[in-house]
Amino acid sequence: MEKLLIINANELVTCSGSAAKFGVEAMNDLGVIENGAIAMEDGIITHVGTTEEVMSQINADEYGVIDAAGKAVTPGFVDSHTHFIFGGYRADEYDWRLRGLSYVEIMERGGGIINSVKGTEDASLEELVDLGLKRLDSMLSFGVTTVEGKSGYGLYKDTELKQLEALKICDERHELDVVKTFLGAHSVPKEYKGRGMDFIDYTIEEVLPVVAENKLAEFCDIFCEDKVFSVEESRKLLLKAQELGLKSKIHADEIVQLGGSELAAEIGATSADHLLQASDEGIKAMAEAGVVATCLPCTAFSLKEHYARARYMVDQGCAVAVATDFNPGSCHTESIPLAIALSTLYMGLTTEETITALTINGAAAVGRADTVGSLDVGKKADVIVHEFPSYKFLPYHIGVSTVELVIKNGQVAFVK
Ligand code: NIG
Ligand code: FE
Repeated sequence: MEKLLIINANELVTCSGSAAKFGVEAMNDLGVIENGAIAMEDGIITHVGTTEEVMSQINADEYGVIDAAGKAVTPGFVDSHTHFIFGGYRADEYDWRLRGLSYVEIMERGGGIINSVKGTEDASLEELVDLGLKRLDSMLSFGVTTVEGKSGYGLYKDTELKQLEALKICDERHELDVVKTFLGAHSVPKEYKGRGMDFIDYTIEEVLPVVAENKLAEFCDIFCEDKVFSVEESRKLLLKAQELGLKSKIHADEIVQLGGSELAAEIGATSADHLLQASDEGIKAMAEAGVVATCLPCTAFSLKEHYARARYMVDQGCAVAVATDFNPGSCHTESIPLAIALSTLYMGLTTEETITALTINGAAAVGRADTVGSLDVGKKADVIVHEFPSYKFLPYHIGVSTVELVIKNGQVAFVK
């Protein structure tokens, strides 16, 4: 298997660590090594240090060498919240939104998630896989090397399982690592209107056991929101899923302050996501319970909502992750540069915090901080070479990707 070496990096941004980083000090510490080098073998990082240190420990003749002089090198990004498997698009709805209709108004007109459920039901497994693979290619070009993907455009068993199968095949066929999340409770189907708990019972009895038994997902997620699923319904589903071995995620406190953040802390969820309306108490509870607070600024931007209070969350000691929320409705973008721009300009995070949020904290949000998200010996060799000398160019080159080359599992997977 190949041996690969990167030398002379102006800044080797390690983001070193094997767990989520909580609070201001930890999130601002990027572990930068000047004139850094990194050696990889069989897809795993074997050496990290200054170029001088690494060169003295290896036989460079055995390696393919990338000279990163004048460039910044970072871990591959972890996009820890997406819905990238779906059939059909909702460009018309986007147009309605531009004309003033709110997300909830569109949902009440029968648009929104239900519309993508139809498109996903109509798509074959192969079509979903083909679309998924193309979307993963695009993510890779932005430097993403691990991505979380959710079901949730099936609601009922057959299409939910088809989506999870598509995620599995995409993981197998594409270089990117795909973390699978079961989100059957993404919307209440019209047959269950006003009977959310009955739909939760259906999900628990008919779908969840199949997902768990066949290990089709690592996480169970739910849209805990006014007019969708209550805190009580969310607790019931997520606790049952935990019993069956699935870790928890929650779409929490996005549109209304319902208490999803508090629930995440109560049940030991791995992450709570969106959080635009999260209360001070909920934020404190997440910090104390070690729940990763995942902020999705591209969604707030696209919906013209105010942004999650990421600055306050970090100040309160939270581990904040930032993700794209790529999906066909509320946020049809997989753009990491947009997420970086919004995170720094509108959520008040520093450049360092934003990079931590997209690497090691993103990895923690998908339960993989021990294997990805930083440049540490023993981790997967997932690395980005950027075309500029400093990580400070990531937000500064506003909305434009600085990614020049991506290494996934120790092999070059993308070159600009
Ligand atoms: O994360 N908030 C709920 N779920 C998705 C929206 C999905 C859609 O609109 O299709 C989200 O934004
Ligand atoms: Fe989402």
